[in-house]
Amino acid sequence: MDRYRVAVIPGDGIGADVIAGGLAVLRQAGEVTGSFALDTTEYPWSCQWYLEHGGMMPKDGLDQLRGSDAIYLGAIGFPGVPDHISLRGLLLPIRFAFDQYVNLRPIELLDGIPGPLRDRGPADIDILCVRENTEGEYAGLGCRFHEGRPDETAVQTSVFTRKGIERVARFAFDQARLRRRKVASATKSNALQYSAVFWDEVVAEVGTEYPDVELTKYHVDALAARFVTSPQSLDVVVGSNLFGDILTDIGGALQGSLGLPAGANLNPERRYPSMFEPIHGSAPDIAGRGIANPMAAVWAGALMLEHLGQPEGAALVMTALRRIAKQGPRTPDLGGTASTSDLVGALTEAVRQCAGPASGSGQTPMLQP
Ligand code: NAI
Ligand code: MG
Repeated sequence: MDRYRVAVIPGDGIGADVIAGGLAVLRQAGEVTGSFALDTTEYPWSCQWYLEHGGMMPKDGLDQLRGSDAIYLGAIGFPGVPDHISLRGLLLPIRFAFDQYVNLRPIELLDGIPGPLRDRGPADIDILCVRENTEGEYAGLGCRFHEGRPDETAVQTSVFTRKGIERVARFAFDQARLRRRKVASATKSNALQYSAVFWDEVVAEVGTEYPDVELTKYHVDALAARFVTSPQSLDVVVGSNLFGDILTDIGGALQGSLGLPAGANLNPERRYPSMFEPIHGSAPDIAGRGIANPMAAVWAGALMLEHLGQPEGAALVMTALRRIAKQGPRTPDLGGTASTSDLVGALTEAVRQCAGPASGSGQTPMLQP
């Protein structure tokens, strides 16, 4: 039996509910397979913690996380603390310091879930988004000056490096080889003649190492439209930090509810812990009501198991998730009346029932190159 040290940051709002539910489902998978156990350490860092301590995490917060095998995160952000403070105080420092340069977002419409597109079902929506996660438009460089004057000015600089583009592009091409061998690269090289032209050149260079993978570049606006008009034409999508952020939310919408999409912030070389999270936020409008959908957190947990080296556990969790997506119960975001704990109970039971020789029949959520 393998043991993993998992740092758990439930965060704000519904984060605590969905992460507790996710851990219950993962632990069940560990028990029934007998192949792994999670040793968790919980960190209470959140907006509440900020209001009490004046920071989003302690000064040595990153050092506290550094020794873990993975980080499992709920959601960060709550009314009362500006979003740029919570994001720049916790989430982005973790992504940057631990060089989690791939933000991986499987976009898949699960069988049984009504998607928002007329005439498009699960067979049409299966996209793997690979978002650059450490530089680009999120580099955090810039300034404000002439504050309060009519000529007040803000400058926010994007940073694109050959190394940064190359490694994320290579990851995307490797993933494409495990799928339908197509990469769509998001650009805006008509308007951004330095950064996006450079992006296109480096992605194309990396592409020459993968003659078996078809590379197409799309201007990001046209690509956004393509997600809606022709999602079945997309396999792996690679984009810069901001482009990827926007495209993955369109992708998330295609999954039918924010209660479903999950993401992984990966340091593929495993020099540092990677981080796994549902992509939704803290949902202040339903926080404390016990009705948050835990499925995104469970899916994020499956990605974590896959990364930790437990593909069978991951597949088992995904099989259970698919079964519940099809059969119910459903939380209110999917038109049902079930509570978070009803879902956690059903998912845990589904893991127990699906275990056994057939447990590997579920598609794995994320394949390692
Ligand atoms: P949100 O994702 O929290 O909520 C948007 C809508 O989706 C709400 O109506 C909410 O009730 C619903 N929703 C979200 N997750 C759900 C779930 N699991 N089950 C059922 N319904 C769900 O986005 P919003 O309201 O824009 O942001 C709230 C806070 O969360 C902000 O402070 C924001 O900065 C933060 N946030 C944090 C993220 C993170 O930690 N990675 C990501 C997105 C937002
Ligand atoms: Mg986003």
